[in-house]
Amino acid sequence: MGSDKSHKDEGTAETAAAVRRRSSPIAVYPGSFDPVTNGHLDIVKRALTMFDTVIVAVLKNPDKKALFPLSERLELLRKSVADLEGAVVDSFSGLLVDYLHHRGAAIIVKGLRAVSDFEYEFQMALMNRKIDSRIETVFLMTSYRYAFLSSSLIKEVAALGGDISGLVPTCVEARLGEKFGARVPDRIPQRIDME
Ligand code: PNS
Repeated sequence: MGSDKSHKDEGTAETAAAVRRRSSPIAVYPGSFDPVTNGHLDIVKRALTMFDTVIVAVLKNPDKKALFPLSERLELLRKSVADLEGAVVDSFSGLLVDYLHHRGAAIIVKGLRAVSDFEYEFQMALMNRKIDSRIETVFLMTSYRYAFLSSSLIKEVAALGGDISGLVPTCVEARLGEKFGARVPDRIPQRIDME
């Protein structure tokens, strides 16, 4: 009798989990991620509060000159999301909408840092909707701590010996250090008086 009850409970729990999986659509967070920053990770974490599976999809774009080859971008992303349950890293080429079909996904996740991001993102969201009206784009606002961050700025600051700690995952910081050499140790901090 007791074992019957425990089977019943397990069955109920499995069904609930299955229903939750079915009701939470797969989301795709696309980008270049050259390299991944803590701002990107902030968006992945926020997306995981809404979706069980978030596929971080790196665009394979041979025409765009990247600092990190695709394999390295994927490796750094995989290390960075290793502790985030539900986060999956993949790459895609061609139309984003086709990739969503391929993965059975219906949601595109995008991060917004400032109003300046909005116009281009709005344009892309409407174009993707034009291609497939069933696909929705969800915009998530990044933490104010990362609102100024971009992969391009990180690369520029790292190349010039600036401090990028706390702005990128440690594996990315180390890899940028290898690419650009150690930080300039005797940089004189500038004091700016604000009167
Ligand atoms: O990090 P990025 O470079 O701003 O990401 C841009 C990305 C990858 C999201 C965008 O270029 C894209 O979706 N490319 C795939 C090709 C495509 O579907 N283009 C039409 C989009 S409206």
